[in-house]
This record gives sequence, C-alpha cells and structure tokens, in this order.
Amino acid sequence: MQTNVVHIGIIGLGAIGERLMNMFQTREDIVVSAICDTSETRLEKISQAFNISNTFTNYQDLVNRGDIDAVYVAVPPKYHEAIVLAAINAGKHILCEKPLANSIEEASRMVAAVSKSNLVHAMHFPLNYQASLQQFEQLFKDGYIGELRRINLKMHFSHWPRLWQQSDWVAGREQGGYVLEVGVHWIQAIQRIFGKITEVRSQLQFPSDPTLCENSIIAEMKLEDGTSILIDGLSNIGGEEQLEFAAYGTEGTIMLKNWRQLLGAKSGNALEELEILTGNGHNLITEFVKAIQGENAELYDFYKGYDAQVVLEALRHPINSEWQKLN
Ligand SMILES: NC(=O)c1ccc[n+]([C@@H]2O[C@H](COP(=O)([O-])OP(=O)(O)OC[C@H]3O[C@@H](n4cnc5c(N)ncnc54)[C@H](O)[C@@H]3O)[C@@H](O)[C@H]2O)c1
Repeated sequence: MQTNVVHIGIIGLGAIGERLMNMFQTREDIVVSAICDTSETRLEKISQAFNISNTFTNYQDLVNRGDIDAVYVAVPPKYHEAIVLAAINAGKHILCEKPLANSIEEASRMVAAVSKSNLVHAMHFPLNYQASLQQFEQLFKDGYIGELRRINLKMHFSHWPRLWQQSDWVAGREQGGYVLEVGVHWIQAIQRIFGKITEVRSQLQFPSDPTLCENSIIAEMKLEDGTSILIDGLSNIGGEEQLEFAAYGTEGTIMLKNWRQLLGAKSGNALEELEILTGNGHNLITEFVKAIQGENAELYDFYKGYDAQVVLEALRHPINSEWQKLN
C-alpha cells in the first residue's frame, strides 16, 4: 500500500454510491480498491466503467480485505448497521451515508460500537460543506435577522420518489419517504446552526397502500429556548418541487431555496437573492482523509448522525400527534 493514500472500499453502488465513486476518481489521496453490491448487474457495470477488479457481492468479503483502510457505506438505511458493525470489527474507518440507520436502536448500537474504537467515523451530510449553508449560518450569527422567531421547512415534491431516484425502498414506508431522505439533512443543519431540538409533534398522512411512504407531514418542533420549527411536507402534487428552509427573526429573514439559492430580506422588504461567497472550502473527502491521517478535520461523526436520528424517528413515528420530549 502506498503511504499517505487512503484505500477505500465502496459498499452500495446505486445513485449516491456512483456519485461518490466519480468524486473519488478525481483525487490522488484516495483510491477505490474494491467495490461491493448485492446486484451483480450493478457490480459488473461499475466494475467495467471504473476499471476495478476487486468486486464482491458479500460486504463481509470486502471489509475483511487487508488492503483496505476505510469503507464507504452507501446501501439503503436498514442495511447500514450490519455493514458498519462488520467494518468496525474489521478495524476499518467508515464514511456512512445519511441517515445513520433506520431506527434509534440501530443507531445507538452503531454509536456504542464505534465509541469503543479509535476509528474515524463520518457521515455524509453534504449541506455542511456547501457555501450557501455556511453563509446562512454566518448571516444568522452576525445578527442579520436579529432574534430568531421561527424556522420553517417546506418540502413539496411533484413526484416522490423523485424521477432520478426511483428505487422501491425510497418509495416504501419501511425505510424511505422524504422525511427520512430529505428531512434528515435539514434536521442536522438545524442542530448545527440553532442547537438542540427538544420537542417534536408530527402528523403524517399515507396513501392507502400500506407499503408506501408518507404523502404529507405537518410537524412542529421546538428548540431549547422554545422557538418553533414548522415542517410542511407534501408529495405527488401539482406544481414544481419546492424546498425552502427559512429563519425568520425580529430584523429580517434568511432562506435557502432548492438547496443552494440564498435569499435574504430585512424586515418589511422583499426577499432578494444574495451572492454566495466562497465558503470555508472544506470538502468531505479531504476532511475524511485528513482525519485518517491524524489531522484535525471538519467531520460530522456518528454522534451527530445519532442526534439527527432521534429527531427523525420522532417525526416518522408520531404518538397521537402529541408532543414527544427528546433527551
Ligand atoms: N448524502 C446524500 O445527499 C444522499 C443522497 C441520496 C441517497 N443517500 C443515502 O445513500 C444511501 C443509498 O441511497 P441510493 O439512492 O444510492 O440507493 P440505491 O437504491 O440507488 O442504491 C443502493 C445500492 O445498494 C445495493 N445494496 C442493497 N443492499 C446491499 C447490501 N446488503 N450489500 C451490498 N449492496 C447492497 C443495491 O443493490 C443498490 O445498488 C441511502 O442511505 C440514502 O439515504 C444520501
């Protein structure tokens, strides 16, 4: 093995696995040494496209390899736990897709296991490395909106699953739905910028097919100081996909629209698009490699994944639309 180069194995070669595969290809500090997918067709396709000969259909065979330092786990959520635990047992650093798991119990077992190791554990929460979210946070911290009054998250989808992510599990109630797939990014962003979410009450609606995920959510959450966070989610509707994340304050509003567009207004004025500055320039893969090499790095670890999972599960599993207090 070449020193200073991280050798990584990818488990799960679907939409996001392939996206990160493309990102790994552009770098010199990380090499994809092996790949795994239960789908032989997918394995064959990626193996040929990227010229990778170490291919496996069983993740255990990949994690056992001595020539791998780290694994990237990009399978659907209910398979994260088993693979992550196997990787920890084999002493591999881990980059795991969000959400951390498919339940609080799974997430806590993963956190317990990794906390007993010296391994690097990182979540793929890409918003954290996005200049527009960093600028949103900076504007808030610089007092642009004054005192925070409310946070609103709107998730409207003309199609769910979206046309580029037509996997059965994404459409399914067991481990899919947009509260899980999209909502968890924003839960983690709220926790990062505004602190703990202490209470949740949630109302979901579902189609008549019991295997299909929610088509509506109306939820309210509270920050530690009692500030409300409203969630309005609706799918399979007329109109275009709309994603809005807004913080309203005593002196103004800041909003991220459709993930990257940053808008702002002082009280009484119309929202206008703000120029996105360069941000801190950090990149998940660079940070992951730095951490493995023992340097300080900006990573969002399994503890952050766990904190987001606790809120996510309260949203996904309402108790009679009553307030649920979170630890
Ligand atoms: N961070 C992000 O922005 C982002 C975006 C999309 C998806 N995701 C997350 O990434 C993960 C994968 O999502 P996706 O959209 O790529 O799903 P996908 O269905 O497109 O791909 C998943 C792949 O995993 C394979 N797989 C399933 N079980 C396996 C197992 N036990 N061992 C090996 N391979 C297995 C499947 O055959 C498939 O090829 C999910 O956790 C999802 O929430 C994250």
